[in-house]
Amino acid sequence: MEQKSITEALDLSGKVAIVTGGAAGIGYAIAERLAEAGAKVLIADKNEEVAHAAAAKLPGTGIASVCDVSDETQVEAMVAHAVREFGGIDILVNNAGIYPFKSVMEATKEDFEKVIHTNLKGAFFAARAAAKEMIAQGKGGTIINITSVDALHPSSVGLAFYDASKHGLWGFTKNLALELAPHHIRVNAIAPGVVATPGTEMGKAADALIGKIPMHRLADADEIGKAALFLASDLSSYMTGSQVVVDGGILLA
Ligand SMILES: NC(=O)c1ccc[n+]([C@@H]2O[C@H](COP(=O)([O-])OP(=O)(O)OC[C@H]3O[C@@H](n4cnc5c(N)ncnc54)[C@H](O)[C@@H]3O)[C@@H](O)[C@H]2O)c1
Repeated sequence: MEQKSITEALDLSGKVAIVTGGAAGIGYAIAERLAEAGAKVLIADKNEEVAHAAAAKLPGTGIASVCDVSDETQVEAMVAHAVREFGGIDILVNNAGIYPFKSVMEATKEDFEKVIHTNLKGAFFAARAAAKEMIAQGKGGTIINITSVDALHPSSVGLAFYDASKHGLWGFTKNLALELAPHHIRVNAIAPGVVATPGTEMGKAADALIGKIPMHRLADADEIGKAALFLASDLSSYMTGSQVVVDGGILLA
């Protein structure tokens, strides 16, 4: 295999990426790094106003698509939007996710379904639609699923449905990697620890958590963005079915 320079290996010029839940937090940080590396990025988010503003401030070419990932029709339309505007799809990041706290004893069927439909079913819809395009294009691609340290070990009481969705997403990642390897589509996951995002504005709770993190700080969203750039780029050319843990050591604690 020809050895590329670092610049060439990181270069995503000519590539098209979709980042779900890309309007804010970890998703936006990922979109920013992919755009900086040269990819054309479609930010897919259910929050229309924030999605358009986010796409406009990307350091490169970006557009927004309004999409609730739990809706199959909207997800198909999101992939079609990228293909129509940018001519194809090479990178999909399944990042959209929710983490409401609720004890199992107090929860309803609807509480369970909302988490599973967003975090797990949404990733299935998007992976299937994107992989169909990638297979038709015949030049491979990469899919990155944002799981969590909760895909490996529970972090907190009240997140049972979240943990079920993220354990499921990790299993889905591994099996999809097997299924898509013959098409040169790599499928990997990133498991963040605790990241400072709009969704985790925890005030005093953050201080208590920081004490449990060996690196004694929350992650910056860009630290997940950099891991996503690695998995999207040629730097990870022999990786598939892997989960990169980016957690400041919290799983050791
Ligand atoms: N923040 C953390 O500490 C942390 C840790 C581990 C894993 N994660 C995972 O990272 C991902 C992003 O987390 P975050 O903290 O940046 O979240 P966030 O709440 O800060 O932002 C999530 C974005 O996703 C969008 N979104 C939510 N539901 C959607 C849907 N159904 N369809 C389309 N868009 C939707 C929101 O509008 C928002 O823009 C999630 O999958 C989460 O489980 C986060």
